[in-house]
Amino acid sequence: MRNLCALAAVLLLAASGPAAAADGEAIFNDICSACHQPDGSGQPGLAPPLVDAALWSRLGGKAPGYVVGVVLAGLTGTIEAAGQSYIGLVMPTHDFMSDQEIAAVTNYVLQDLNQIGTPIDATTVGDVRAAVPTHKQLRDIRKGGS
Ligand code: HEC
Repeated sequence: MRNLCALAAVLLLAASGPAAAADGEAIFNDICSACHQPDGSGQPGLAPPLVDAALWSRLGGKAPGYVVGVVLAGLTGTIEAAGQSYIGLVMPTHDFMSDQEIAAVTNYVLQDLNQIGTPIDATTVGDVRAAVPTHKQLRDIRKGGS
């Protein structure tokens, strides 16, 4: 019995190791859902929806880089999402997250919540981190520009 308990403890420890740290759903629920809501539907006055088919189809192949850029840089300024204006809100930077964690949560937002995009890995996040976009650049990408 004691051995079984020890085994269970080891398994629990293993489950909370690095592999679990890159679980996009867990990261989303831990960090992002407080503002964007657990289903990504957002909340007027707090944070825009991350389930937004119009936004992601407008961004196309730029969607993953945009999400990574927002997570690294944060975002300010007025944005329109699903017919609602989000004015004067601040998304704080999440650059304390590892490249693996940001890749995992980006894949969760795009693939699981929105059923789009091809998965990215930590290398893509590292490339964006090497030249973090400004909020203006992010807003320009969001409009569908370059
Ligand atoms: C403290 C609240 C808060 C947390 C936590 C937060 N966000 Fe945000 N997020 C915001 C706000 C507010 C905005 C809109 C900023 C603006 O109006 O310029 C935003 C915007 C965004 C956008 C752009 C949406 C659009 O319509 O262009 C993305 C993508 C995003 N967040 C992803 C995330 C992810 C992924 C996480 C978790 C790693 C996260 N956010 C955590 C508040 C938050």
